[in-house]
Amino acid sequence: MLKLAGKEDKKLKTTVFQDETRIFNPPKELVEKSIVMQWMKKKGFKTEKEMRAWCSSDEHYLEFWDEMAKTYVDWHKTYTKVMDDSEMPYFHWFTGGEINITYNAVDRHAKGAKKDKVAYIWIPEPTDQPVQKITYGDLYKEVNKFANGLKSLGLKKGDRVSIYMPMIPQLPIAMLACAKLGVIHSVVFSGFSSKGLMDRAADCGSRAIITVDGFYRRGKPVPLKPNADEAAGGAPSVEKIIVYKRAGVDVSMKEGRDVWWHDLVKGQSEECEPVWVDPEHRLYILYTSGTTGKPKGIEHATGGNAVGPAQTLHWVFDLKDDDVWWCTADIGWVTGHSYIVYAPLILGMTSLMYEGAADYPDFGRWWKNIQDHKVTVLYTAPTAVRMFMKQGAEWPDKYDLSSLRLLGSVGEPINPEAWMWYREHIGRGELQIMDTWWQTETGTFLNSPLPITPLKPGSCTFPLPGYDISILDEEGNEVPLGSGGNIVALKPYPSMLRAFWGDKERFMKEYWQFYWDVPGRRGVYLAGDKAQRDKDGYFFIQGRIDDVLSVAGHRIANAEVESALVAHPKIAEAAVVGKPDEVKGESIVAFVILRVGNEPSPELAKDAIAFVRKTLGPVAAPTEVHFVNDLPKTRSGKIMRRVVKARALGNPVGDISTLMNPEAVDGIPKIV
Ligand code: PRX
Repeated sequence: MLKLAGKEDKKLKTTVFQDETRIFNPPKELVEKSIVMQWMKKKGFKTEKEMRAWCSSDEHYLEFWDEMAKTYVDWHKTYTKVMDDSEMPYFHWFTGGEINITYNAVDRHAKGAKKDKVAYIWIPEPTDQPVQKITYGDLYKEVNKFANGLKSLGLKKGDRVSIYMPMIPQLPIAMLACAKLGVIHSVVFSGFSSKGLMDRAADCGSRAIITVDGFYRRGKPVPLKPNADEAAGGAPSVEKIIVYKRAGVDVSMKEGRDVWWHDLVKGQSEECEPVWVDPEHRLYILYTSGTTGKPKGIEHATGGNAVGPAQTLHWVFDLKDDDVWWCTADIGWVTGHSYIVYAPLILGMTSLMYEGAADYPDFGRWWKNIQDHKVTVLYTAPTAVRMFMKQGAEWPDKYDLSSLRLLGSVGEPINPEAWMWYREHIGRGELQIMDTWWQTETGTFLNSPLPITPLKPGSCTFPLPGYDISILDEEGNEVPLGSGGNIVALKPYPSMLRAFWGDKERFMKEYWQFYWDVPGRRGVYLAGDKAQRDKDGYFFIQGRIDDVLSVAGHRIANAEVESALVAHPKIAEAAVVGKPDEVKGESIVAFVILRVGNEPSPELAKDAIAFVRKTLGPVAAPTEVHFVNDLPKTRSGKIMRRVVKARALGNPVGDISTLMNPEAVDGIPKIV
């Protein structure tokens, strides 16, 4: 049986999943009424397999994308070429076209039949504050007023703006306002520290930060503006800080730099002409973790992100006009960008958006949200499912979840036990689970079931139509069914990343170099995950190839945490490893060498944890810090994390004879 995601799983070469014989067929009614089945009938496809293969084939994939681009998007000027690969690996899509994504997400609905349809049902965390229903008409006005406000500050097409906000409606409003003007937004998760914000804002040269005074967490207001102040101090490009008053906490406003949101929109027109942009114009930059400590700024293009996410959301989650969609992610991650903001709005759907914690005031909050607002499709992460599983079924059992008709999962491999629990207790033992595999870099799901797909627990099933996903060995050969290797995209697709902000070399190295010189494999995208296919062709993702931790579905580079630790005045060196955690997937464990003259103590361990929390934010804080005298290193001085981890987890350490200091291994304590 497939185990939880963890680096150790990658060493399980084959057959770990082959005993997964359970198949869950979709109910007939779901299949017959599904959007994808309607399309298949129109096109004359007999089977799902035939349809998926046709759409992703060399002969037809551009034809497929051309049809989808015209189905989901209104182009201000129609493109003349679907895809241009003359500058590989810089692929260009929808060449010659002109588009505005906010026009597609908001304006066309607000000016049409959906004017009074609710776009967002927003639930504040404090239970005594009213739920807000924001229609497409409301959204249109708010976005335009704020866009005009941004314009009045001199912000214009191509400028970058960092958005550092909690889950309140002003976050999508800010993003949509930027996009309306062609301003490139870079959302930074509000759980990141001031340093996290500063590094990102400085890297992309943000001219402004949009933030809040504070936000609510488990009923208490928490200030956020001071983090933006600190960040601006170290990011010289930041000229303005725009502050939305959310929690009523006291903040200091710097004369000439800081401006209140409500002052900025005061007197602004409710109309704002969209700035039409080239489809390749960057919509956003979103930072994610790579193998080194420095986060990479993933550049996403406008055209591709108007088409890809909307199409996949429509087909995979089968959203119809009366559905109520709830994606529980934070908008600070790609899942929220694509599936809370752009895709559901482009489709003109109603989404639920919840401000706060899953356990506030108790573990029934999510289930109450679903009951109260008759959510029909729920999309969440395995780490949340496991947390609820641990709390027990009595929480969801207290609520009426009968409105649900489809479930989804994202972020990490979902272990079959959690999958079964999710189906059993949230899905009444009958709902299908769409396990969507994708990444910050891809903008949309690449592998996923459709409502017509027979499911296997723990499998993201097959490549979606239009996506040519495969598994290759190190030499670039496709691996046979029943084995594993590197999961790759053989062809480009509209919403793929376009570049790294300011780092061409690393972009090439991380994704394209690996198969570049293999005949016939130039332009193959290396996703960075290991995967296997069973004898029926079902894909099972096994986790990352590189040194990246997966903590509660968040990607955190080991090197990032290590560099934060060694910045502590008493720490000389650090190795960080992931320890399997039944709820979070992995928890962060650090082994540190102290600087001379310092003594290990429980207080110092606590202080080191607090230090990382302050530097990188709570998501990246280790749960354990162990003091060691030495760490195993290669002869070139690189700390061997793999060896540290194996020893700490009580696994075989392999051949360590070539290490500079093999004796250091004995000093690593066991952590399990
Ligand atoms: O390892 C894969 C895992 O999450 C990584 C991407 O993380 P991030 O860019 O933060 O985006 C997360 C949300 C899309 C992938 O390389 N991953 C994501 N979804 C799945 C998954 N692993 C297994 N199954 C999934 N459904």
